[in-house]
Amino acid sequence: MAKDLFQKCRDYNDSAAARAQGFYPYFRCIDESIGNHVICGGERKIMIGSNNYLGLAQDPRIVEASVEATRKFGAGCTGSRLLNGTISLHNDLEQALAAFLGREEALLFSTGFFANQGALAALTEAEDVILCDRENHASIIEGCQVALAKLVPYKHNSPEALRNRLKRIPDESGRLIIMDGVFSMSGDVANLPPMIAAAKEYDAIMYVDEAHSLGVFGPQGKGVVHHFGVNDEVDIVMGTFSKSFGSMGGFVSGSREMIEFLKHKARCFIFTASLAPAVTGGVLKALEIMQSEPERIELLWRNTRKMHEGFRSIGFNIGSTQTPIVPILIGSEAKAFAFAQRLFEEGVFAIPAIYPAVRYGEAIVRTSFMSTHTEEDLDMVLDIFAKIAKELGTFDDPAYTEPGRRRNVFDFALPKRVGVEEVRGDSGAVARNGSGLHAAVSG
Ligand SMILES: Cc1ncc(COP(=O)(O)O)c(C=O)c1O
Repeated sequence: MAKDLFQKCRDYNDSAAARAQGFYPYFRCIDESIGNHVICGGERKIMIGSNNYLGLAQDPRIVEASVEATRKFGAGCTGSRLLNGTISLHNDLEQALAAFLGREEALLFSTGFFANQGALAALTEAEDVILCDRENHASIIEGCQVALAKLVPYKHNSPEALRNRLKRIPDESGRLIIMDGVFSMSGDVANLPPMIAAAKEYDAIMYVDEAHSLGVFGPQGKGVVHHFGVNDEVDIVMGTFSKSFGSMGGFVSGSREMIEFLKHKARCFIFTASLAPAVTGGVLKALEIMQSEPERIELLWRNTRKMHEGFRSIGFNIGSTQTPIVPILIGSEAKAFAFAQRLFEEGVFAIPAIYPAVRYGEAIVRTSFMSTHTEEDLDMVLDIFAKIAKELGTFDDPAYTEPGRRRNVFDFALPKRVGVEEVRGDSGAVARNGSGLHAAVSG
């Protein structure tokens, strides 16, 4: 009898076990969103688990622009951009983005995930190498898996490690270096200038994913590339509308010829329906508001500074974050789940992140803040975190009491596949695969 592909589904019980223990944290249903608060099961919760940095997702002007676009073009485009799915709003948004970011051209994708996957797969060939920060987002890892090029991971944010990798690549291989502008779990900012210097030395293309930096860094929220003043030195800037723009969809920007090539070669662009009119109209309006209301970005940073100081003064380890993404180190997976559950009960919506999203043994509650959070919201969040940490003995966890435990454990999960070069030595341990939920459930 042939192998039963469904056996693994029958065997899977991590989520059921977490539910049975009363701390399953995922798929929490939101019945209503009121900006910085949400209603779940009739109860109001402070939302600190979204990427709605500028509070634009519920902005009535954006909602209205979405409705208007729907009235004019319908609920969907029912086809690929290449064929019947291009509407004038797509072209308007691409032009507006390119002008905003100072790029020659931009190309919309239906999600940020597709933008990374489509660009990486189209731009590289079997003899090429993609150099990938070990803390890059899953969409980049997935893009590297789909691309025929060899994937070479390098130590997070380290120009020395990047150089070490670059110098081993033969001349006949094209090199593409890709990194998050702001890393989605740690909140670290890309160490761009020295990375660019290394890229230049070895003739490599630079690709920056600005998912969490647009609307947050740089003048008018133009991202880390503008924050560091290196726009001319970065070949590809990618972004998504699922964070500061408060919507969904993504884009890639760069030279005219590269965009022309992607338009005809990126499979995630060609073989999928285009961005819905509602989304496109809404994002156009969001881009306009982002530029005309810089005070939102100032408020975001005021709230960010307050929370960095607040969490640190309670005694939490928030790592090296420099952004509104504030990872609260909890340590054990089980405790991170319990912590998130208690937060929810106390009226705070935040999600735990466990291995493989973060290093093993360093589970976090990932918090992220918005320009629209009030002082009162934020003070309440800090009080609740302090209370729960005391209750659960968070600061007694080995992650706090035994710093040595975490040394040399760098186990970012890169799924094994032919063509993936497993680079050890940067930080020791080899990538481990697996379900973090399992670890949480089994303690
Ligand atoms: C750094 C980064 N890149 C890309 C993506 C994918 O974006 P999207 O949600 O638009 O698919 C995300 C989403 O979480 C992200 O954090």
